[in-house]
Amino acid sequence: MKIDREKVKKVFAEYVRHYDAEDPKIRLKILHTYKVSELCEEIAHDLFGTTEMTEASAQENIDLAWLIGMLHDIGRFEQVRRYHTLLDAESVSHATLGIEILFEEGMLTRFIKVNPEDPDIGLIRAAIAYHSDYRIPGDLDERTKMYCQILRDADKLDIFRVNCETPLEDIYHISKEELMHAEVSEEVMENFMQRQATPREIRKTPVDYVVGMISMAFELVYPISRKIASHQGYLDRLLDFPSDNEKTRRQFADMKKFMCG
Ligand SMILES: [Fe+2]
Repeated sequence: MKIDREKVKKVFAEYVRHYDAEDPKIRLKILHTYKVSELCEEIAHDLFGTTEMTEASAQENIDLAWLIGMLHDIGRFEQVRRYHTLLDAESVSHATLGIEILFEEGMLTRFIKVNPEDPDIGLIRAAIAYHSDYRIPGDLDERTKMYCQILRDADKLDIFRVNCETPLEDIYHISKEELMHAEVSEEVMENFMQRQATPREIRKTPVDYVVGMISMAFELVYPISRKIASHQGYLDRLLDFPSDNEKTRRQFADMKKFMCG
């Protein structure tokens, strides 16, 4: 599939111009989109750059990863406009909304030439549909699975940045005081020590969300993604959570020790 990057960037910029750029949630998701697409490209470059394929076909594969990054959160803008939140649990699945916009309403054709016979169209759909699920389905073909994983790794890496750079109380609709006094729930702590991402339904306290973010690092699939995470340094910053609660500070110290040795 040939991807015209300039066209994709133009169509995206034109699309988001219709949303309120003064809204920090919109601004956050525009920047997140660009960052995730760059990270998808970086991961794909590492995966395809060293294979036997020709330079041109490696570049096509890398462009496809970049494209998926550009499209993955397209549902966020309508989510914010309609429901004024980024929390799926309080509104709709933004991934499903994105699929509706791109595939049912046909917006994908504005970004790329769509040949329904091309298996990469189904791959784009799957990668976007599953990008924020706890786990991807077990029956995906190898190529689709790889693109799902590239996108999920890239998304997680940029979520670490967002959580460091955005006041957490803006993302989670909680007061600073609540956040600084809360403790990590027992179940969330136990789940963390099993080196896996925190399922949404076990999060109870405001800091559980912070632990939830950090625990995503356990699920990074590719070595290049783990390398990027350690260069970024955001995980270390999240693990140094400056709680006002002594028990919580101890909990974070334990998690840091467990994660970083
Ligand atoms: Fe997303």
